[in-house]
Amino acid sequence: MQITLPELALILLVGPSGAGKSTFARNHFLPTEIISSDQCRAMICDDENDQSVTSDAFEILHLIAEKRLKAGRFTVVDATNVQPEARKSLLKLARQYYSPTIAIVLDMPLRLCLERNIRRRDRTLPEEAIRNHYGLLQGSVQGLAKEGFRQIHHFRKPDELANLGVLRKPNRTNQKSETGPFDLVGDVHGCFEELCLLLQSLGYRTSLAGQNFETYHPDGRKLVFLGDLVDRGPKTPHVLRLVMDAVKSGDAFCLSGNHDAKLLKALQGQKVSYTHGLAESIRQLEDMSKEFREEVAEFLRTRPSHYVFDGGALVAVHAGLREEMHGRDSGKVRVFCLYGETTGETDEFGLPVRYPWATDYRGRAMVIYGHTPVMVPQWINNTLCIDTGCVFGGKLTALRYPEKELVSVSALTEYYKPNRPFKLSEQT
Ligand code: CTP
Ligand code: MG
Repeated sequence: MQITLPELALILLVGPSGAGKSTFARNHFLPTEIISSDQCRAMICDDENDQSVTSDAFEILHLIAEKRLKAGRFTVVDATNVQPEARKSLLKLARQYYSPTIAIVLDMPLRLCLERNIRRRDRTLPEEAIRNHYGLLQGSVQGLAKEGFRQIHHFRKPDELANLGVLRKPNRTNQKSETGPFDLVGDVHGCFEELCLLLQSLGYRTSLAGQNFETYHPDGRKLVFLGDLVDRGPKTPHVLRLVMDAVKSGDAFCLSGNHDAKLLKALQGQKVSYTHGLAESIRQLEDMSKEFREEVAEFLRTRPSHYVFDGGALVAVHAGLREEMHGRDSGKVRVFCLYGETTGETDEFGLPVRYPWATDYRGRAMVIYGHTPVMVPQWINNTLCIDTGCVFGGKLTALRYPEKELVSVSALTEYYKPNRPFKLSEQT
């Protein structure tokens, strides 16, 4: 059997003393990835069994876990973690650093834990302590699913552990090995003609092969679509076809925008309001085959929230991203990527007021995003919004990376009236 863990996560080993947590950790993780409560005790008082320093030991354990999560490091907590409160504080810590928490539960038979305890050379606990751990685990194991773990791996027999493979899966956002050169493209919103013109200006060759498009750059450049391919514009299915084909052939990356995420919900049969141009996409997609709609749904479902490219020097995202969220994967990160940070207020046009995260940005990575149409892209602290409102009669813009050159084509017409005057508009 195999389990697959994300490259960045907080792993809680859960089980009574003698269940084999430290053995498991040694077998599957690097020594530097493991924080053991026993070792923290030993660091304080030279005796890993001295329960009188437990509280201080956990303070150190939490501090190290915090520093590792902040640094974006895979972290394993080797402690019994049989009490819900112990798990709760660690889950909270991981959330603070936008990391998922995973429970690996070594729910071994009580008899086995007791037997091992007697045979142990490093320590022997009173039998009562192990019965207590066991009871605490049994009393809370059913509730684990509701505590907020991304994954729970529950093992009940030693055999299940003997042949277990533990794999690590890179996050989809992690494209650090992709160094470009790239052409990052802002919100297309179904403006197929303008997209073709822009690709031409950028030097891409696009041709139709049967039902599919072939797009490539003779110099091996790659496209990065910053989301919101769909809605409002005249040819959403064509845009999707071209981008899906370019992603498939490895000539493009594409992340999710808020409109793409909402279209996905509609395609999955969830109840959403057909506003802000969704009705147009749905109408256009009704003319396409069921297979195409399914392909679109699968494509949209598998879009990452953002990308980290070029060794961490470039971040591509739909609505922007604070530095501490780069490369992280949590519900909060995904929401920020799609919508930015809202203040909870609405403006005179009934649109959400956004917190200007870019003005506070001090990160090393260049952050390129779209989402809020601007007349002219302007660098703010190494961040740039390149949504120039093509569908509202503005332009479709790309940024060449690493050249930092902007390439734009003007909209052929105004396809959609902006919710507020475009020249004033800072958000959709
Ligand atoms: N052990 C074993 N076979 C395994 C796992 C563990 O024989 N598959 C033995 C170890 O050699 C050790 C004892 O069982 O002597 C306890 O294993 P350990 O991994 O140290 O258990 P933990 O769960 O870490 O116990 P504690 O909470 O006390 O640290
Ligand atoms: Mg141990």
